[in-house]
Formats: sequence, structure tokens, C-alpha cells
Amino acid sequence: MASINNNYLKLPGSYLFSTIGKKVKEYSENNPDAEIIRLGIGDVTQPLAPAIISALHSAVDEMGNAETFKGYAPDLGYVFLRNAISEKDYKARGCDIEPDEIFVSDGAKSDCGNIQEIFSTDNKIAVCDPVYPVYVDSNVMAGRTGEYDPQTERFKDVIYMKCTKENGFVPELPEEVPDLIYLCFPNNPTGMVMNKTQLQEWVDYARKNDSIILYDSAYEAYISEDDVPHSIYECDGAKECAIEFRSFSKTAGFTGLRLGYTVVPKELTAGGEKLWPLWARRHGTKFNGAPYIVQRAGEAVYSAEGRSQVKEQIAYYMENARIIKDGLVEAGYEVYGGINAPYIWLRTPDEMTSWEFFDYLLEKANVVGTPGSGFGPSGEHYFRLTAFGSRENTIRAIERFKKL
Ligand code: MLT
Repeated sequence: MASINNNYLKLPGSYLFSTIGKKVKEYSENNPDAEIIRLGIGDVTQPLAPAIISALHSAVDEMGNAETFKGYAPDLGYVFLRNAISEKDYKARGCDIEPDEIFVSDGAKSDCGNIQEIFSTDNKIAVCDPVYPVYVDSNVMAGRTGEYDPQTERFKDVIYMKCTKENGFVPELPEEVPDLIYLCFPNNPTGMVMNKTQLQEWVDYARKNDSIILYDSAYEAYISEDDVPHSIYECDGAKECAIEFRSFSKTAGFTGLRLGYTVVPKELTAGGEKLWPLWARRHGTKFNGAPYIVQRAGEAVYSAEGRSQVKEQIAYYMENARIIKDGLVEAGYEVYGGINAPYIWLRTPDEMTSWEFFDYLLEKANVVGTPGSGFGPSGEHYFRLTAFGSRENTIRAIERFKKL
């Protein structure tokens, strides 16, 4: 008799952003005249940059010609893209990452969710609290988290590292040593960052304890301050203890196109075994490569034209972040993030719970955000807004906030 993977039954009813989507759909069906502004899921709204569109068009033409047609992509991704990544994202920042250490994929979400497969189910994970739900959910599915305790709203076998205003939303080194440490900086959901010294402490801790850091750097393009590392490989010794995930989604508006990559250094080991061959094996078995046309679009992000167009787009979103942040401060809110990341993390007024504030904001202002508690218990009484809306909607949303 077939039976299911019981670990799935331990998961919350639905993925956070699906729950929000359902709630908003229900509200708009009951209130068809409501002009809803969505600043919930971090999805981009600006069209792809012209250099990217032009690369897509040329690649489509190549696919329509027998001479230039491409079938399956190479396992790790096309060399033209891996070379560009290695040069522009790493070597230009003094990080010695070779093209062979880069695995191109269809996005950081899949890689962050799948990477746990190459580690033993006995490994103990540590996550920030609040946290991007994918890290925990994928480990629940793998049976690595133990039972869920509704009292504490936590899984028994997970180390939760609180990120609160008291510690500047930067986790402290855990006393109980984890095997796998998930870190995401600039942070989703708080929008806060670690400086180089703080990140170096994590690298030193991981090396000392033989832990592996799974470093999600999906928002690095939004960093505006000098002392904030763009890559964990800017820290000494990180190649011995860290895997890094990057995404074209937020950097260049690829949420619908899908492209990302993971760096697994050749020398990185766990329990004496090299991790690169394991991830290569997994990639080869379960993934047939990101589409050629999308990889060409990714390459265009690194051209002189592409870089300057993408930079403009990022500046546009960060101006939205400034508008949100300043507007909320003016309206009397306690606000964090929004300087090195496209997320604004605000304290809910009058001790409202995050979901109470979600409902209140939806009903009274027709604005959608993400309840902080959806990212973990330490997110309770917080709320996340994204800067990825259009300028017009961002301004309108803040005007509505001010009228509340
Ligand atoms: C978010 O809103 O947290 C992100 O858009 C989700 C994601 O990148 O998968």
C-alpha cells in the first residue's frame, strides 16, 4: 500500500504567501470596488530592462534556426554565464570563486529548498527567527525538524536564533552548535544587515565547529552601505564553510523568468566528504538546466548597458523604500530596514498582533502587507512591506497609512 511522507502533515496548512493570496482574494470578491494595493509578496513590478529584452529576442531567434538551436543546457549552466558571474559578482569583489564552482539554476528558492538533501537527516539546523519560510519548511519535509510545538510555535529539533530590535535583528552565535546554519543577509523579512565583522564572526564560528553556513544573498544588489558584505566569500575562510545562493529575481526582475545560482566551493567538505560532487550529482539527476534564452538574458545583466539599466531599476525600488520608511516614521511608526534591502519592517501599532494588523490594513486602507508572525514567533507584532510596488501605488499606500 502506498503511504505518504508523514512529515508533510507537520507543515502549516499552506505556504505563507498562498495564505495571504487567499485572504486577499476573498476580501476583493466581497468588496469588488476596493482598490487594493499589494505590498505583500516581494514580487517585482517594473518591466525587464531593454538590454535583457534584446538578449531574449536574439536568443529566441537562435532557437528558431537549426544552426544555432540549443537542446539541453550543460548541467552546471552555460560557460558564458558562469564566466560572467565569476568575474563580475566575485572576482571584481576580491572573492576567488571559479566558474566551475557556480551552479546555475531556476532560482534561489529551489536551491535553498533543495540543498538540505545533500546533508544527513540527523543534522541539526539553525534558523533566524523571523525567517524566510522555505528554509524551515523544506527541512520539515525532510524530517529534520522533529514535532511542532503549538505552544512555542516552533519545531522541537530546530535551533531558532532570535532577531529582535534588542540585537539589531542580527542573530547571536548559538550556544548549542548547529550542523547547518541558514543566514540571509540583507535579511528577508527584516531588511536589516550584518556588517563584515559580524559575518566574519559567523564564518569563524562555523569553521571552529565544523558547521556549514547556507548563505542566502538574494538581496545583495540592494546594499547601499560600504561596510556590508555582498558575499560571504568576502570573509576569510568562508570557502571552507559556506554555500551561497544568489538570485536574478530581485537583482534584475527575473521573478517570472526564473534564474539563480548556487556557489559550492570545490574545497568545501562535511564530515570529510566534498560537497561539490554531491550537489553536482543531485543537479545532474534532478535538474535539466535553466533555459538557454533565460541564461542569455542573465548574461545581459552583466553587460555595461544591462548593469546600468538594472542599477536604475534598483534605485527606483530603493526610492520606494525611502518613501515608505519616511512616510511611516512621519505617521508615527517604529520602522526598520529599507536602507540596504527592499523590505521595510514595522512595529504594529497599539500592540496589535501581526494578523490583526493585516486585517485592519486590508479593511481600512486596502493595503496588503505580510504579517511578521508568518515568518516566525519573533516576528509577532511586526509587519513587512515591500518596496517592489510601482511608485504611484507606493505613494498612494503611504498616504492611506497616514490617514489611518
Ligand atoms: C518574499 O516575499 O519573501 C519573496 O518574494 C519570496 C521569494 O523570494 O520566494
